[in-house]
Amino acid sequence: MSSIRIAVFPVAGLGTRFLPATKAIAKEMLTVVDKPLIQYATEEAVAAGMDTLVFIVGRTKNAIIDHYDKAYELETELSLRNKDAILKMVQEVVPSSVNCVFIRQSEALGLGHAVLCAEPAVGNEPFAVLLPDDLIYNKGGASCIQQMVEVYDEKQASIIGTQTVAITDSDKYGMVAGPKLADNLARVDEIVEKPSPAEAPSDQAVVGRYILTPGIFNKLRTTERGAGNEIQLTDAIAELRKTEEIFAYSFEGRRFDCGSKIGYLEANVEIALQHDEMADDFKQYLKNLNLD
Ligand code: G1P
Repeated sequence: MSSIRIAVFPVAGLGTRFLPATKAIAKEMLTVVDKPLIQYATEEAVAAGMDTLVFIVGRTKNAIIDHYDKAYELETELSLRNKDAILKMVQEVVPSSVNCVFIRQSEALGLGHAVLCAEPAVGNEPFAVLLPDDLIYNKGGASCIQQMVEVYDEKQASIIGTQTVAITDSDKYGMVAGPKLADNLARVDEIVEKPSPAEAPSDQAVVGRYILTPGIFNKLRTTERGAGNEIQLTDAIAELRKTEEIFAYSFEGRRFDCGSKIGYLEANVEIALQHDEMADDFKQYLKNLNLD
């Protein structure tokens, strides 16, 4: 069992960048090759030893709840037809040893507010936050959140997943800065949400992976609206930093920004190219594609 048992998935966003696809379904249910986006994130958490998945859901998210529920009719039908491999795949969306908790965020007040909504399910222990829009792939190696759990075990402090970005993109991210402690580890001395390139403290961007101590909840309770007029997790982390050490961890792996159409397409292409069943055919198709 992991030292971090609980993973929080904020999935209450409106998905406006993918309208009209997301008019009636959650953007986290959009498929990357053959699985919904959210499943990549939950599998990452479960593989890292987490056994409680807390989903902060909004309107149009019922498909997510159904996806993590037992599908009696479907399972009975697959079993009657002896479709054992498919049945196993359906049943393994989430292992039976894992508990799913769903909490409604009735108003979309921002990521910080979504994380605060998880408090009744998290209580007083450290927990992970995974933003499913960031699909992080580390073929053959430990997943991003697994790597971060290992850093947490050593530091016993909040750990923020980061990566280097072009400074011109700083206004799309939380940006952190602080002294480097090792190749992939720095202390967070500064963290600011979506600064302009001129105001960015460094080129280190926060990606959608966090391990947070429960002290974050007290900070979130008093966090006022910030960038984009939303209650920002970044602002609460900046407050927490005044009383606790926080570390930035530059993970190994490839991140796809599936909150953008181009990132979503890149994820589909690259994951298909790694897929056991279809990599060869897909590679052939791409080779023959006339790009002019
Ligand atoms: C959120 C966070 C931001 C972080 C980003 C990573 O922003 O607020 O700090 O850098 O996720 O994907 P969003 O992309 O939801 O605007």
